[in-house]
Amino acid sequence: MNILIFGAKGQVGMALILAAQNNNISSSVYPIGHAECDITNSEAVEKILKEYRSKLGRCMIVNAAGWTQVDDAEERVKETFETNWRGPLHLAQSAEKYGHDLIQLSTDYVFDGMQESPYTEESPVNPLSIYGLSKEAGERAVRASCNRHIILRTSWIFSLYGKSFIRKIIELAEKKDELTVVTDQIGSPTSASDLADAILRISSTCQNDFFQGWGTYHYAGAPSASWYEVACFVMTELSKHNLKSAKVIPATSADFKMKAPRPAKSILSCNKIYRQFSIQESDWKAAIRKEIKSIAAEKHD
Ligand SMILES: NC(=O)c1ccc[n+]([C@@H]2O[C@H](COP(=O)([O-])OP(=O)(O)OC[C@H]3O[C@@H](n4cnc5c(N)ncnc54)[C@H](OP(=O)(O)O)[C@@H]3O)[C@@H](O)[C@H]2O)c1
Repeated sequence: MNILIFGAKGQVGMALILAAQNNNISSSVYPIGHAECDITNSEAVEKILKEYRSKLGRCMIVNAAGWTQVDDAEERVKETFETNWRGPLHLAQSAEKYGHDLIQLSTDYVFDGMQESPYTEESPVNPLSIYGLSKEAGERAVRASCNRHIILRTSWIFSLYGKSFIRKIIELAEKKDELTVVTDQIGSPTSASDLADAILRISSTCQNDFFQGWGTYHYAGAPSASWYEVACFVMTELSKHNLKSAKVIPATSADFKMKAPRPAKSILSCNKIYRQFSIQESDWKAAIRKEIKSIAAEKHD
């Protein structure tokens, strides 16, 4: 199966390119960065999907492009919806028109975080923020416009590339002795590398003409934790490798004046993806250990 990655220079896009290299399938993966295609431009999207149809036949389109600045989204509503709603709409319409399949990345921010138990794919959505609303609108656009779609909701993505909470606290720990981190947001950190492997597995399974499992799935890390617990784990791992760490001070969301409200507890149940694709939750502690080990190897070289 040939795979076209939109938003190829972002965290997930880069992880997909690396995962393809590790699986020796780079020659069937086509990265398309923001500069090559702005997904808000319907003509640009259609041109690319049409070209690839005539060149390669049916492809898997992975939409890893998105407006991901959650706080900025509160003020830049139009740009956020253009990228997170109109962009997926264009991709879905052109994928349907040219006979491609589509994987659309979505988020736990479509939920309000008030549910005690893990959210399943059937749980009612109720986004709290502009980012969450725009991603939920993107999901609906994909469902309405492209039959062969997978909507993959995930959460708290981290990697050595791009911007992530974990990357940020590792950098901050180098400069500061104390970090203040919230205890009242609970979720599931997800390794971008594990997510990329899951996307490749889904793409490979979906290429079967008899595949019937199109729809919405959750994929995230386990076990769930608060940002505070994640930060403490990161600091312990840094110390084990004689890297500079910082003391983690517990705080609540009210102590930070963030523009966008976040779900307080958004744990994604990953049973459905296991049943359909035999994909297991990402082990975020193992992934963080591995990433810190590679940072230490670089530093101590
Ligand atoms: N990060 C998370 O914790 C998280 C959690 C759940 C779900 N997700 C979803 O997962 C997906 C990937 O997230 P990520 O962390 O990899 O994001 P990211 O690192 O911010 O990457 C997003 C990429 O999309 C590109 N992009 C933005 N607007 C575009 C447009 N109009 N046309 C084409 N490309 C555009 C960006 O390019 P520029 O930098 O040049 O603008 C960037 O390369 C997103 O859909 C996001 O909503 C993320």
